[in-house]
Amino acid sequence: MNSKQKILKLLREEESGYVSGEYICQQLQVSRTAIWKSIESLRGDGYEIDARPRIGYRLLASPELLDPTEWFTSLQTQIIGQDVRYYRVTTSTNDVAKDLARQGTVEGIVVITEEQTKGKGRLGRTWQCLSQKGLCFSVVLFPRANPMEVPQFTMLAAVAVVKAISRTVSLNAQVKWPNDVYLNGKKICGILAEMVAEADRVKYVVLGIGLNVNQSQEELDNMIGYNATSLRVQLGQKLIRSRILIAILEELDELYNLWHRKGFLPFKQIWQESALWIGEMVQVTGLHNNWEGVMEGIDDNGALLIRLTDGTIKTFYSGEVSLRMIP
Ligand code: BTN
Repeated sequence: MNSKQKILKLLREEESGYVSGEYICQQLQVSRTAIWKSIESLRGDGYEIDARPRIGYRLLASPELLDPTEWFTSLQTQIIGQDVRYYRVTTSTNDVAKDLARQGTVEGIVVITEEQTKGKGRLGRTWQCLSQKGLCFSVVLFPRANPMEVPQFTMLAAVAVVKAISRTVSLNAQVKWPNDVYLNGKKICGILAEMVAEADRVKYVVLGIGLNVNQSQEELDNMIGYNATSLRVQLGQKLIRSRILIAILEELDELYNLWHRKGFLPFKQIWQESALWIGEMVQVTGLHNNWEGVMEGIDDNGALLIRLTDGTIKTFYSGEVSLRMIP
């Protein structure tokens, strides 16, 4: 914990009253001037702190931030989120997470930010993350897996998001193969998995999750070039993002443990239960061709199964799925 976090902890422990400057100095072993600077900096972060001469400081209100000091003690996981790096602004949480993974960090570490300046989407697209509006975070995994299995982790993450949305706000989101989450026909979450692997062994996987939470419809329309929504738009009210974050991390932890114990197979059913467009006519856009057919589901490894018009089943390992528009 840095000085600001320690001061916040002391102020929170005494929420109904004032904490003297002298007591804070003793606890932190720093000067009064240093305490004052930290208090000013906390105010700049949006904390409302009353200061009274000869009495001390009192926390009046906190901004809605993703700072782990706000939520870490409520998190109940074994692997995911047991260590956290938090930024007010960063380039891309995936890039920061990859640096950590390269240096050999702990498995499950979460890199989270209030704002990204170089957020990345799939297929070279950008992903914008306005300050304090959404959830933008990445998780580092060191699975004993082969590179072919990596898409399975993005599918675990998508289902974790669906389950977390259902648990926290009782809305039924759906997964769109391979790794988007949709709510009422609009995209609410994107997932970008990046990995470093040898031919038959994964070194690390970084799962980057971007969930639209408190953006207004206008903000979504201005920044994202697709049909997007947010939880706020769907519910008509703002949400405390850390509640949803905790739920996602806990659901992902459970699914990741399941994957380790039993492999992908038991998860196949779970994925299909919340999948979009099963049984419907879809179009799959690949690198070189487009295909049309009925979406049957996924195979035992997570690849997409499409029944083509001649009745044969084609397996897809990558591609973009969209609902086929009736001409
Ligand atoms: C997509 O749908 O194209 C995937 C979007 C993934 C966005 C997240 S936000 C957190 C993490 N950091 C990034 O730079 N990208 C991912």
